[in-house]
Amino acid sequence: MDSEQFGEAGRQMIDYVISYLENIRDRRVFPTVKPGFMRDLIPADAPEKPETWDAVFADIERVIMPGITHWHSPRFNAFFPTANSYPAILGDILSDAIGCIGFTWAASPSCTELEVVMMDWLGKMLKLPEEFLACSGGQGGGVIQGTASEATVVALLAAKSRRIRKIKEEHPEITNMDILSKLMCYASDQSHSGVERAAMLGSLNIRLIKSDKNFAMDAKILEETIRKDKADGLFPFYVVATLGTTPCCAFDDLTEIGPVCKREGVWMHVDAAYAGSAFVCPEFQHYMKGIELADSFNFNPHKWMLVNFDCSAMWIKNSAELVEAFNVDPLYLRHDKQGLVPDYRHWQIPLGRRFRALKLWFVLRLYGVEGVRAHIRLQVKQAKEFEDLMAKDERFEIAVPVRMGLVCLRLKGPNELSEKLLRRINDSGKIYVTPSKLRETFVIRFCVCASRTNSEDILYSWNVIKEYADEILAESTTNQDKK
Ligand SMILES: Cc1ncc(COP(=O)(O)O)c(C=O)c1O
Repeated sequence: MDSEQFGEAGRQMIDYVISYLENIRDRRVFPTVKPGFMRDLIPADAPEKPETWDAVFADIERVIMPGITHWHSPRFNAFFPTANSYPAILGDILSDAIGCIGFTWAASPSCTELEVVMMDWLGKMLKLPEEFLACSGGQGGGVIQGTASEATVVALLAAKSRRIRKIKEEHPEITNMDILSKLMCYASDQSHSGVERAAMLGSLNIRLIKSDKNFAMDAKILEETIRKDKADGLFPFYVVATLGTTPCCAFDDLTEIGPVCKREGVWMHVDAAYAGSAFVCPEFQHYMKGIELADSFNFNPHKWMLVNFDCSAMWIKNSAELVEAFNVDPLYLRHDKQGLVPDYRHWQIPLGRRFRALKLWFVLRLYGVEGVRAHIRLQVKQAKEFEDLMAKDERFEIAVPVRMGLVCLRLKGPNELSEKLLRRINDSGKIYVTPSKLRETFVIRFCVCASRTNSEDILYSWNVIKEYADEILAESTTNQDKK
């Protein structure tokens, strides 16, 4: 493909992307394909001779689209959102064209420098304490990770390294193996599975602390558990607090958990993967109270801040602790400006990294902070609209207070009714929702996800839910009559 052909194909692709996104409601949100479907649609081997762009382009609809779940359809009300915007797509196009691998400052200085500044912009938008920001001149700073799960692992490894150093200073006789078997992590029983996985990846023990009636981590139980573990000769070192849990968007109280971590000398990492974007709005800032007690903080602009996947923002108060945890320094990666600027290879697990700050820069400039706030507020309002529609139907109940863009609803009565309802809704392909279990209670999670969602879409989704509720409740009455 030469530059002329690229220009033509590029324009065709941009037109396709616009048409795809603007007409996305017309597509069935969840595909009907069966596992292995693609083998029948494409040859078993790569073509020996080059094909034409027209042939490739035609296969987007024939091969790819039948198996796509349309995450950016307003009919997609599952999981949490993943962001999508034209400015972010433009940023990714440029990033792909530059195609640099920014593992050190010298590997492509703009790649590192823009990221440092963008993370300061974002941190200031969220009103993070100065200590987290590179512009404060201290050891703090931000980095773009691929996912919140990676941020959890990276923070865990830094915390582990800090704790091992301290134990070694106090007890030089203890072996590394002995220390490793006694290191303990903690998170609430509502935390994301990625936290448990981070501990597994690090071959470390984790305790899931019981949540309270609001599904927030019980700080008292956390403190008692840490103290007991210490008394038993174990080494507590890492607590993950969650702001906006996956099952029901509950918020751990940092003003309670933070002081426990401080008293017990334990690293506090804060996972705000979804809800973190909302902290740009002053009315949601209160959820972050106590953030100054955290050692590290993370949220995903790629969830709710209009920046396409992947872009997970992480800050750390003392970046030296990351660098110390991961530093290997082969000659071929060294450069003569080392130490003057961050070399992000020390802040992450892989060596290679894409120029992800570009899409963040484009989004923040083209929307402005105001535009980002408007996006968040609109989706929160739409969740309320959905709640209001539901509140008028007394067959339904809200399982927990609606927070952010998430509504956890269920049919009154046994779990089986709501389980059946969820299956029926998803089988219809009209909208897509996901389940959650809040202790013994089964709930349907309805999340406002797509940035194109409007009030008509909310009404559409509610009508789909109602239609299948009518059906299921009628069947259940008939079955009872038969008995
Ligand atoms: C609270 C929370 N933490 C972490 C994650 C995982 O995010 P990621 O896919 O970026 O690892 C999620 C995903 O929804 C989440 O809700």
